[in-house]
Amino acid sequence: MLGYKAGMTHVVRDLDRPGSKMHKREVVEAVTVIETPPIVIVGVVGYIETPRGLRSLTTVWAEHLSDELKRRFYRNWYKSKKKAFTRYAKKHSENNGQSVARELERIKKYCTVVRVLAHTQLSKTGLVQKKSHLAEIQVNGGSVADKVEFARSHFEKEVAVESIFEKDEVIDVIAVTKGHGVSGVIARWGVTKLPRKTHRGARKVACIGAWHPSKVMFSVARAGQRGYHNRRAQNLKIYRVGAGNDPKNGSTDFDITPKTINPLGGWTRYPDIKNDFVMVKGCTPGPRKRICTLRKSLQLHTSRTHLEQTQLKFIDTSSNRGHSGYQTPAEKAAFMGQLKLKQAA
Ligand SMILES: *[C@@H]1O[C@H](CO)[C@@H](O)[C@H](O)[C@H]1NC(C)=O
Repeated sequence: MLGYKAGMTHVVRDLDRPGSKMHKREVVEAVTVIETPPIVIVGVVGYIETPRGLRSLTTVWAEHLSDELKRRFYRNWYKSKKKAFTRYAKKHSENNGQSVARELERIKKYCTVVRVLAHTQLSKTGLVQKKSHLAEIQVNGGSVADKVEFARSHFEKEVAVESIFEKDEVIDVIAVTKGHGVSGVIARWGVTKLPRKTHRGARKVACIGAWHPSKVMFSVARAGQRGYHNRRAQNLKIYRVGAGNDPKNGSTDFDITPKTINPLGGWTRYPDIKNDFVMVKGCTPGPRKRICTLRKSLQLHTSRTHLEQTQLKFIDTSSNRGHSGYQTPAEKAAFMGQLKLKQAA
């Protein structure tokens, strides 16, 4: 699944971990909320195995592709002639779409690996960007023909998170981390600062190696790019899969105040979540608005922590800026009374 990181908040729940000091006691945990509008399957790619690794044999696209996807193929959509796939789409209708069917047959005949092409629906989010993200997702299980048929049957169809992930599942989140540009050794490698009176700077490595070998070893900390690396956060537990527009998806059985997942005053630098979302325990790489890949964990989970059935008691939806603790606009209004500005109006 693909999603966009919206931000973080915290939850309260009873820990069920016999042996732990916190067993049967309330714990507060940080959670990350990722907005996941349904992705759309728009194509299939077949790969053949070669001695040098996989080689793509052919790609088949769906007949109708949305503009938000076509924008992906242009640097400047507004100035372009927007011709992408216009001729390709005709292939589907010409002589009963035989050329497309032939390509699918070729995949079935020659390929060993089949992947579908899926794109996000950015237009469903409140984000400003219009160019949606495109990803290849491998289809596993069954024969190659089955895989191709499966992919073909999903063309132009949406796939929602609920159909992939469920509560209490343990997943991996892959994303590009926050970029920090070129950083020095102190920030980049955690090297200790030199003493205060050091001549020619203290934020340095004092000695970068011996006279011989007369080279700087790769293992010496040097300045350079920090952040904007592709990283994977493993084994994150899903605490909730919900709908952003549902007026009760921020509530729990213990805290029945109707509220959405969106905090009071909104997320910082992320619009209100209107689509499905996934709430995972802890943090994920990258800043808000970053495209995240959510995938099934590669491990078999047997530990009690990973199998635990969680029950949230409270989700914090107070403002992300400032220190007030109001959970909903109604709560705030009840406490603050009528505001002067409103009276005048
Ligand atoms: C969230 O909203 C969806 C859709 O309205 C609903 O099916 C689901 O039960 C809600 N989940 C929770 C935890 O309230």
